Amino acid sequence: MSGADRYRLMASTIMPRPIAWVVTRSLDGCINAAPYSFFNMFGSDRPVVALGVLARPDAPKDTAANIRATGEFVVNLVPFGLVGAMNATCVEAPPEVDELDLAGLDTLPSVAIAPPRIAASPVAFECRRTHWLDTGPGQVMVVGEVLHAHYAQHVLTGDPERPRVDPAALDLVGRMHGASAYTRTRDLFDLDRPLWRDAQITPTTAS
Ligand SMILES: Cc1cc2nc3c(=O)[nH]c(=O)nc-3n(C[C@H](O)[C@H](O)[C@H](O)COP(=O)(O)O)c2cc1C
Repeated sequence: MSGADRYRLMASTIMPRPIAWVVTRSLDGCINAAPYSFFNMFGSDRPVVALGVLARPDAPKDTAANIRATGEFVVNLVPFGLVGAMNATCVEAPPEVDELDLAGLDTLPSVAIAPPRIAASPVAFECRRTHWLDTGPGQVMVVGEVLHAHYAQHVLTGDPERPRVDPAALDLVGRMHGASAYTRTRDLFDLDRPLWRDAQITPTTAS
């Protein structure tokens, strides 16, 4: 099976995937942004996220090159209202092009690292690389620790001392199958976790 076929089958079944809209900064100060759906959280103490960056034929993707050089990246989350802008930043632009400019997006300075965050994104995680795993020729998995997290006020609810996230206000999108399919996070249902105590009570069956 070719690599492209493996990609198609895996990416069309391991879904939906959350999207990290990653901002990095090169050593000479160029800002770069691109979406990455090989992304998730992998721990909370310490808070850990990881990204999968695929190979590019001639040179590593700018995101990988910048994280390799600086160890710093911001993961911004993508609400439905920003999908057009997010998509604009996935264009394979040369390293010196700031995709955030192309998409008309403003940035705000980060607190702990040099790359800025996307002002319009409701949640942003400032991350420092902790692990760099070469997982294939030119393919890498980057693990990062979240040093600082930003949550827009409008996605928070409840006690300000211990706020909760309002998923409807957040309105995130996920990546689905094929080249262009996405999903919204609105088709929700609840499923309580079983307790071992309750599992001991065997249901009565008709005799
Ligand atoms: C929604 C979405 C998710 C993507 N996820 C990934 C991914 O997980 N890994 C990857 O290597 N490329 C992914 N891409 C493609 C990159 O965004 C694209 O190659 C981009 O040009 C890389 O930019 P960079 O060189 O500035 O890092 C994705 C594209 C889109 C639109």
